[in-house]
Amino acid sequence: MPGFPIDVHLGEHGLLDSIADDVRRGLSAQQKFLLPKFFYDEAGSLLFEQITELPEYYPTRTELNILTDIASDLMQRVGPQELVELGSGSSTKTRVLLDARYNMGTSARYIPFDVSKTIVESACEDLHGRYPDIALHGVIGDFERHLGLIPPAVGRRLVLFMGSTIGNLELPERLELLDGIRKLLSPGDFLLLGMDMVKDSAVLEAAYNDAAGVTAAFNLNILSVINNALQADFNVEEFRHRAHYNHELDRIEMHLYARSAQSVHITGLGMTMEVAKGESIWTESSHKFTQETAMSMIEEAGMCLDTWYTDSLHYYGLALITTR
Ligand code: SAH
Ligand code: TRP
Repeated sequence: MPGFPIDVHLGEHGLLDSIADDVRRGLSAQQKFLLPKFFYDEAGSLLFEQITELPEYYPTRTELNILTDIASDLMQRVGPQELVELGSGSSTKTRVLLDARYNMGTSARYIPFDVSKTIVESACEDLHGRYPDIALHGVIGDFERHLGLIPPAVGRRLVLFMGSTIGNLELPERLELLDGIRKLLSPGDFLLLGMDMVKDSAVLEAAYNDAAGVTAAFNLNILSVINNALQADFNVEEFRHRAHYNHELDRIEMHLYARSAQSVHITGLGMTMEVAKGESIWTESSHKFTQETAMSMIEEAGMCLDTWYTDSLHYYGLALITTR
């Protein structure tokens, strides 16, 4: 048996137990939409891992390169006893920080927090083998609802929120989440926040419309998630993935376009939805930042930028943040 606890704050079907209202609201709207947290069932988490390895998808690689450069300075500067990671996924990049841990002491602990139970379990198995001296405590929950259920700190804390997952939220939700994160921090604690930066839109659009079609499969999988969770009959083949860059709002917008007019029955909601040929369901935005927009978000959330780390092309930014 594994030597680590995993707290589960979602029902047997994970997030799927609580998505009915959100799906009804999204599919009844003028511009139909779904929420990005629905992507991550077991198949979705596996597809996301494949996205991180695509040649066009530079963010994961770039963030890993920055982390590799800064890890030892960062870990000495912060000197955390524990790392808490939100949306931790496979925790692959986190290993770079754990490898550079400095004086973490006997209370060293890592808390991965994600909606996906299977991915946290497999990340913990892997980390337990690599770092037998680090206590692991998994938390399965929704970071928009369950941050208050994270176990109390054992010492100085570094919260990690990487992968530019913050960019998948709208500004009000981002500020609310940052406020929740601020409450997890005591004076002397830090947040390391990863953000994808504004850049040439051809580079951005290629990253979300990869040639191998993995992002398309990832996006389309959200319809299978709805089919399974709410006994719906979306015909996945009758939708087409496309991501566009919105220059006014500095964000990638991912849509699923109907190839034909369709009636979709959503038994679990007692609802039938009509989609016209060419109509879209908006599944996700991925906001891109400049150092200025990142700064003003951090300040608006009542926190302070300590250090800004980036790569030579300024493709990606990691902000080390303190409370004030
Ligand atoms: N941090 C990893 C994974 C990023 S993908 C990386 O940088 O590669 C986004 C991760 O956040 C997924 O693992 C997904 O399951 C998780 N996630 C998305 N929405 C969430 C939510 N509302 N609460 C908790 N986890 C969430
Ligand atoms: N947060 C990352 C991003 O916006 C990862 C991600 C979420 C993603 N959904 C995605 C990447 C869909 C590609 C396609 O880039």
